Amino acid sequence: MNEFTNLQLYGTRNDVSANAKSVSIQALSERLADGIDLALAIKQAHWNLKGAQFIGVHLMLDTFRNELDDLNDKVAERIVQLGGTACGTVAAVAARSRLAPYPIDAHAVGSHIVALADRYADFASAVRRNIDDTDEAGDAGTADLFTELSRGVDKQLWFLEAHIQEAAGSMPGPGRITDR
Ligand SMILES: [Fe+2]
Repeated sequence: MNEFTNLQLYGTRNDVSANAKSVSIQALSERLADGIDLALAIKQAHWNLKGAQFIGVHLMLDTFRNELDDLNDKVAERIVQLGGTACGTVAAVAARSRLAPYPIDAHAVGSHIVALADRYADFASAVRRNIDDTDEAGDAGTADLFTELSRGVDKQLWFLEAHIQEAAGSMPGPGRITDR
């Protein structure tokens, strides 16, 4: 039993073990809250961006949102497939999200890129742990879904960071990501 499975668990013919279901429902529910929080942050940035890169980032963020909505939907549906309840209300997400609250006073394009990249990095790190935890618990299907989610958020993090990483050959400076 955990904070997510003490909601009613439905019996199902799905024969993933009870322990694996509990581990997976916990992990999926945590990431559903984070993922919906991040989806809302993406629109906050999409609407309020100001700066020379406006249109490119504005349009990019809509592709992020569409891709993340699809991944969040798969996460929610996996919870229900395992007998759990997918909790996607604003109140549930606000109570459960582990991401830092998104700044509503940010406007500069660079501020939004950094704020989003920070949250994507935290989200991606949690998803990576979930891959291992659900695999070790014996739920390969959920581990595979987390692997798909991991690739998706890693790609979006790359798109974000490419806006703020200094190009190779430029002067070294704070935050420069060096080739190894
Ligand atoms: Fe729009």
